[in-house]
Amino acid sequence: MPIDGYHPSIDRHAPRPLPHRPARAEEIRDAQRKTWAGLSAGWEKWDSVIMEQLGPVTTAMVERLDIARDQQHLDIASGTGEPGLSIARLAREGRIVLTDLASEMLDVAARRANAQGISAIETTVCSADDLPFDDGTFDSISVRFGYMFFPDMSTATAEFTRVLKPGGRLCSSVWVKPEENPWTGIAMGAIATETVVAPVDPDRPNMFRCAAPGYVSALYEDAGLRDVAEWDVDVELVTESPAQYWDMISEHVSLAVAALQKVDQGSRERIRANAMAKVGVFTNDGMVRVPGVARCIVGTK
Ligand SMILES: C[S@@+](CC[C@H](N)C(=O)[O-])C[C@H]1O[C@@H](n2cnc3c(N)ncnc32)[C@H](O)[C@@H]1O
Repeated sequence: MPIDGYHPSIDRHAPRPLPHRPARAEEIRDAQRKTWAGLSAGWEKWDSVIMEQLGPVTTAMVERLDIARDQQHLDIASGTGEPGLSIARLAREGRIVLTDLASEMLDVAARRANAQGISAIETTVCSADDLPFDDGTFDSISVRFGYMFFPDMSTATAEFTRVLKPGGRLCSSVWVKPEENPWTGIAMGAIATETVVAPVDPDRPNMFRCAAPGYVSALYEDAGLRDVAEWDVDVELVTESPAQYWDMISEHVSLAVAALQKVDQGSRERIRANAMAKVGVFTNDGMVRVPGVARCIVGTK
């Protein structure tokens, strides 16, 4: 069975993918939609912990986007709303559009916006590589921890460039290598003691797919963006206890949730105990504080 699930010699009457949307891309999008629909409850449950951890990345991205009060801004792979909602607070007279592949994630974003008293946002379900916006619509675009999940990152970057106004800015963030992100590496290490964790496939979605220095910068440059720069931002995951660390990670990190679905209850218990023992060394002032590093990338059309 080919990976794209379509073989003309088997069924010539099967629906054919459009030329610019190859079947493999559709397969990745479908899998991502299901994954994030399933993760949305975990992201909502752990919202305050996640937002505290990722806050420094939002701050770094927003600084480089130079947001005006009337900014026309597009947030891609917005998920539960960041950094789109932070930008909406600055651009009170602007237009802020939050987009994502998974409607369930955007539903959480809408509830968060409501709880924060932010009413002037639009939400649109769409894929990053096929945007329903005219050329030159936006002053700026943000993509916080979305790039690594796109079926075709070059096509997505070309789309971002298309919908930016001349002079408009794109700023995204990705994770650097796992060794610098023990907040997830501890959990994945514990999982690997009980099951085989597949190595990162550079052609398929994975949270570390864009970790190599210069990886996203090259995508920007290939799409014609100029003044491309990247820099690293430290983050810290803070939980009240090793048990809370494990509950949080096992309920919202895509890699961990996928791997845990493949093990039985006994293995799960051993993995939990292993991860809690390892993360305990990061206890400081009564809290568990595990470091990590993200990379931000900015460019101008
Ligand atoms: C790690 S979450 C990031 C959410 C948010 N930007 C944040 O930083 O909190 C990744 C998001 O990418 C979205 N996503 C995955 N594939 C996508 C695609 N092809 N187009 C748009 N969004 C996509 C997922 O649905 C998910 O909400």
